[in-house]
Amino acid sequence: MNRHDTIAVVDFGGQYAHLIATKVRRLRVLAEIRQPEDPIEMFAGYKGIILSGSPSFSSFGEDSGYTKAIYGLDIPILGFCFGHQEIAKHYGGEVVHEAGREWGRASLHVVRQHRLFEGLAPVEQVFMSHYDSVVSVGEGFEELGYTLLGESEGDGHRYAAIGSDKYRRYGFQFHPEVDDTVHGHEMIANFVLGICGCRPSWTMDRYLEEQVERVRAQVGDRSVFLLASGGVDSTVAAKLFGLAIGPDRLHLLHVDNGLMRKGESRKVLETLRTLGVGEHLHFVDASDTFLDALRGATEPEQKRQIIGDTFVEVFEREARRLGIEGHLLGQGTIYPDTIETGGTKRSDTIKTHHNRVPVIERMIEAGRVVEPLAELYKVEVRELGEQLDIPREMIWRHPFPGPGLGVRLLCSKGVEDREGFTEIEPQVAAVAGRYGLSALVLPIRSVGVKADLRSYEHPVMVGGEVGWDRLVEACGMVWKQVAGLNRCIWNLGPTMPRAARPLAASMTRERLDLLREADAIVMDGLRRHGLYDRIWQCPTVLVPLELDGAGRELVIVRPIHSERGMTATPAALPAALIAELRQAVLALPGVSGLALDITSKPPGTIEWE
Ligand code: XMP
Repeated sequence: MNRHDTIAVVDFGGQYAHLIATKVRRLRVLAEIRQPEDPIEMFAGYKGIILSGSPSFSSFGEDSGYTKAIYGLDIPILGFCFGHQEIAKHYGGEVVHEAGREWGRASLHVVRQHRLFEGLAPVEQVFMSHYDSVVSVGEGFEELGYTLLGESEGDGHRYAAIGSDKYRRYGFQFHPEVDDTVHGHEMIANFVLGICGCRPSWTMDRYLEEQVERVRAQVGDRSVFLLASGGVDSTVAAKLFGLAIGPDRLHLLHVDNGLMRKGESRKVLETLRTLGVGEHLHFVDASDTFLDALRGATEPEQKRQIIGDTFVEVFEREARRLGIEGHLLGQGTIYPDTIETGGTKRSDTIKTHHNRVPVIERMIEAGRVVEPLAELYKVEVRELGEQLDIPREMIWRHPFPGPGLGVRLLCSKGVEDREGFTEIEPQVAAVAGRYGLSALVLPIRSVGVKADLRSYEHPVMVGGEVGWDRLVEACGMVWKQVAGLNRCIWNLGPTMPRAARPLAASMTRERLDLLREADAIVMDGLRRHGLYDRIWQCPTVLVPLELDGAGRELVIVRPIHSERGMTATPAALPAALIAELRQAVLALPGVSGLALDITSKPPGTIEWE
């Protein structure tokens, strides 16, 4: 078991469990994700349990097949939303559907001083999102807080916070893990440090010491072979391996898959050398292999699959060529990757991570893989990187997807997809018209996410000069009021196009080079305008869509604000930068259109496919 006091976070689905675990870890207490059906033995040794929220309804008895034996453990348990309702029910309370549904911010009135609310005000702002509510509690439980739905007391939503000091079971109807619960962090701290009595020993410097020891023990006198993409995770892993086993026993391989940004491979190699881990730094330009494999592929998932498979093929070939197949494989796998690929019945949108393809799984079983970051979230990897003295600009680079520009270079068979246009077009025109914008529904599809499920729907282009806030509001209205759409882009071309038609296009070197140029212009602009550090990510996408018969392609720029990539809001760009992009991107040969993506996630995903 762990050397540190640890909290189990039971993941009932939705997107909350990771957020809860991150918040607990910020207290320097280790938190691990457990699945609701994990056998009771897997809950041994924890100092406390937190039950997450869920898209399921407790009132209808949904998702009730979890390991209820946890309630027999003599450790404190705290539930949020669904977890709160399950605790109430288990101890004789009642949960009812549609009794005082709340959405958004609410005021929590604390009934009496309790350790959970130590140091907080009698009224606290909390974030609510529920259809089900607890309407009574069983013996030994009491109401610790309520919210007011209307003006008067009588309208109150009772049991917004409940607890039993006798059983050490507690529940919050609200979500303390989201930032809209202003003092959620303190409430979680009161539970974890106060009620569970966890010692905050899980610090990054200790983590580093422990991992160095662990790597040394696992590797022994063997060597490690690590794929270094240049991303934060593999770079931090490389530096950690260098520290643990010395650069002479560390082999790094950087593969140029042809899907990297402009000049990227050169920069990656330079960085690794300056970090002092480049003693055995191998490089292979495998762009031909990747492009051959991708020839003719147009479907997003098919492209991802091919890129993943080709990676393994290239890596095996290179390991043979370098005569280092016998080495242990080092990977910069991080915590969410190990969980997402594990696959649970609750996560519909999970993707197989490239660190967990079958060949790698077999190597893991044979004990031939070392993953020193597998317990960390991204933000913690960055913190570890700082401990390791990796330069800031390296650590705080925007995340770049594994399949690289492969998911940003859209391909098409050139067939128009106008399904539903007869209903969609007049509705879109009416909504956009109310904001003084014109609109064009595009005869292609892009990936989005709605109610935690993947959607594949049409984007809309809007045109006109209105302020940013009004533009964002108009785009929100478009997809809220019209079914069959999941994205809205704002035309930056000189005139609003009247027609759009997909062009047949596949993954070619020419198109990739064009996208690389456009992407480099955008990234350079963000840096020059001091925006790079203020936005989370900014994909540039090349879409084979001709506007008004121009015969050339459309470039879409997608700057977003986000915390973890699970949700996102569009980021505004200053007028001066937009003017520069118009000039430079529209001057590229092969480009005839430029647009800014104004879509939040949901309903759009960050990437277009
Ligand atoms: P989406 O498009 O799902 O993206 O909103 C969320 C975050 O994940 C990145 N992303 C990927 N990363 N392999 C990766 O390693 C992938 O296949 C992949 N697809 C999306 C995306 O860049 C964003 O940061």
